Amino acid sequence: MQFSSDNAESWAPEVLEALAKAAEGPLPSYGDDPLTEEVGQRFNHIFEKDVTVFLVATGTAANSLAFASLCPPYGAIFAHEAAHVMVDECGAPEFFTGGAKMVALPGDAGKIAPDTLTHALSHFFEGFVHHSQPHVLSLTQATESGTVYSPEEVAVLAKIAHGRGMAVHMDGARFANALVHLGCSPAEATWKAGVDVMSFGATKNGCLAAEAVVFFNPDGAASFPYLRKRAGHLFSKHRVLAAQMLAYLEEDRWLKLAAHANAMAARLGGELAGIEGVRLWYPVQANEVFPSFPGEVAAQLMGEGAAFHPWIVPGDPAQGQMCRLVTSFKTKDEDVDAFLTATRRLCGA
Ligand SMILES: Cc1ncc(COP(=O)(O)O)c(C=O)c1O
Repeated sequence: MQFSSDNAESWAPEVLEALAKAAEGPLPSYGDDPLTEEVGQRFNHIFEKDVTVFLVATGTAANSLAFASLCPPYGAIFAHEAAHVMVDECGAPEFFTGGAKMVALPGDAGKIAPDTLTHALSHFFEGFVHHSQPHVLSLTQATESGTVYSPEEVAVLAKIAHGRGMAVHMDGARFANALVHLGCSPAEATWKAGVDVMSFGATKNGCLAAEAVVFFNPDGAASFPYLRKRAGHLFSKHRVLAAQMLAYLEEDRWLKLAAHANAMAARLGGELAGIEGVRLWYPVQANEVFPSFPGEVAAQLMGEGAAFHPWIVPGDPAQGQMCRLVTSFKTKDEDVDAFLTATRRLCGA
């Protein structure tokens, strides 16, 4: 009953096979190889426009280096208060930007509301030398609460940000899961809604370690090659990243893997919601479920071998400790069944 994280799973077999195949023969290094060239073309096709793509090995590197290319040290980056960039990257965004200010915005279910952004920006006076200057809005898709911004919601926020001359970044560590939920095209979910740069996640959903930074406007990408090299993320055997990404994107594998994870979460969440005493804190839209359980049930489930994390409780703690359960491309039906059976038994249902 493994629901601790989508990072706890390994990788898709096709990705590993692609790596073995990519080992044949010498190839040019540092990204001058044909596999990396093909990755670029694949992303052009997926996003229906010419984009500029860079591969790195972690999501923290993707986010932080994207910020470094968009934001000077005196700039400010706005993100949800629970965003990975805000709380789980150990200051890497501040470090790689040379000290930009991270501004945490509150918001229900992991999302930033337009009024919240407008209000926060009103405290940063344009051209006022004593204030950090707003440069980036970062949106997480899917959010840390497992919810998904619609393209319309992204567009409203992007309009506000662009109105202040800011760039819009999307942390798409779970972009595939979000896209499966939305059912729209990758272009509609991103640049057509006003996203300028995205961190396109692949590790959580089937790769060993591969993420892409995608610039929808090539002009913004000029400094990125140097920033990536300086950060030690320009892989010499670059095909290691490219082969993973190609296998991930091939035949819509990324969407099929995410569809499986989402379906597992929908079933888990849907059935948990029907058990008396169990409360779901957020709608299940991607591959994460946030329930609280009555009494000692959460601890008992863990005692029976279920792996999941207690999570931060917003609002009234009397309503029970919120937990986070994550499904993945590898989650088995049997694991969902076993978890539901144990929960029903422990809840006396
Ligand atoms: C929303 C989000 N962004 C980015 C990341 C990437 O983090 P890492 O640097 O561990 O690959 C994660 C991983 O947990 C995440 O949940």
